[in-house]
Amino acid sequence: MATAFGLRRKKTIAPPPLPLDRIPRHVAVIMDGNGRWARSRSLPRMAGHRAGSENIRPIIQRFADYDVRYLTLYAFSTENWERPNDEVKGLMRLLSRFLKRETSHLHENGIRLVHLGDLSPLKPKLQQEVRDAIELTRNNDKMTLAIAFNYGGRAEIVEAVRKIVAAGVAPEDVTEELVAGYMTTDGLPDPDLVIRTAGEMRISNFLLWQSAYAEFYSLPTYWPDFGTPHIDECLEAYAQRVRRFGGLPEHEAAASQNGANGHHTSAAAAVPHPRPSNGLAPAHPVRHRSDSDVSLGEVSKDRAGASRPSAANGRSA
Ligand code: FPP
Repeated sequence: MATAFGLRRKKTIAPPPLPLDRIPRHVAVIMDGNGRWARSRSLPRMAGHRAGSENIRPIIQRFADYDVRYLTLYAFSTENWERPNDEVKGLMRLLSRFLKRETSHLHENGIRLVHLGDLSPLKPKLQQEVRDAIELTRNNDKMTLAIAFNYGGRAEIVEAVRKIVAAGVAPEDVTEELVAGYMTTDGLPDPDLVIRTAGEMRISNFLLWQSAYAEFYSLPTYWPDFGTPHIDECLEAYAQRVRRFGGLPEHEAAASQNGANGHHTSAAAAVPHPRPSNGLAPAHPVRHRSDSDVSLGEVSKDRAGASRPSAANGRSA
């Protein structure tokens, strides 16, 4: 059966209605708790990772039903190399199996696969499998699935700085837009919502640059148990959030501007959306306070800097 989003599956359970402007465009997930899931069943850790990997398809389906256009999954961090060798090898095998099992399904359903991170330490055969899947699905436009594998936010920033220096960019030309264009996420909008399963409240080196203004949601469910009701819970919570991007919601800004006597009490000025690099509108229109009434770290900057470089910056997707 085809859903409203065009994905094929056996049965359809419509997502609860949420206002379209409250649906995050990009959701990123820290899939945590595979080990605890396995331990709670007296199973080896790899059984948890296998169950976690098999959980990915229905999760994509549910987000697609909500018309979430970008989904990023954190599957292997640059720190995960520190795990026992067998587990590292097992996760590599799981990536290969995932690609063999899921690539044609993704392709049939119009989903583009991209990779975030550094493929180079992976075995050449596995690197090729990833590249083949990316190549097969590159023109799909229903949804983008980004698999962060051997990904680390700090490593990504360091790599971007190296490339910027190597390109001989003048200091005055280094802008947020330019830096963003050197990240492996170039071409993807910043995440609106970062979800972490298994109860931890850490960001764990995930999308450090890109999550500057993402909403964060943590829930206790282990990743292999994360399912439709949990996605509904996350998206309903997100829909309630008031996103300020360091500014004020429009109604509060208007109130502070007009004051009790109807006169302007603040030098606040209406400015365009403060995240121009990805072309997204905020969930709620925001109005910036003037520099004199924002706290340190919230001062809005002039972002009209150099344009972002094209995708020819070495990203693998
Ligand atoms: C964290 O759980 C999860 C990971 C380090 C790997 C995530 C991998 C998958 C969901 C499956 C593999 C998927 C692909 C596409 C290769 P944990 O092991 O840290 O759990 P714990 O904190 O309970 O020990």
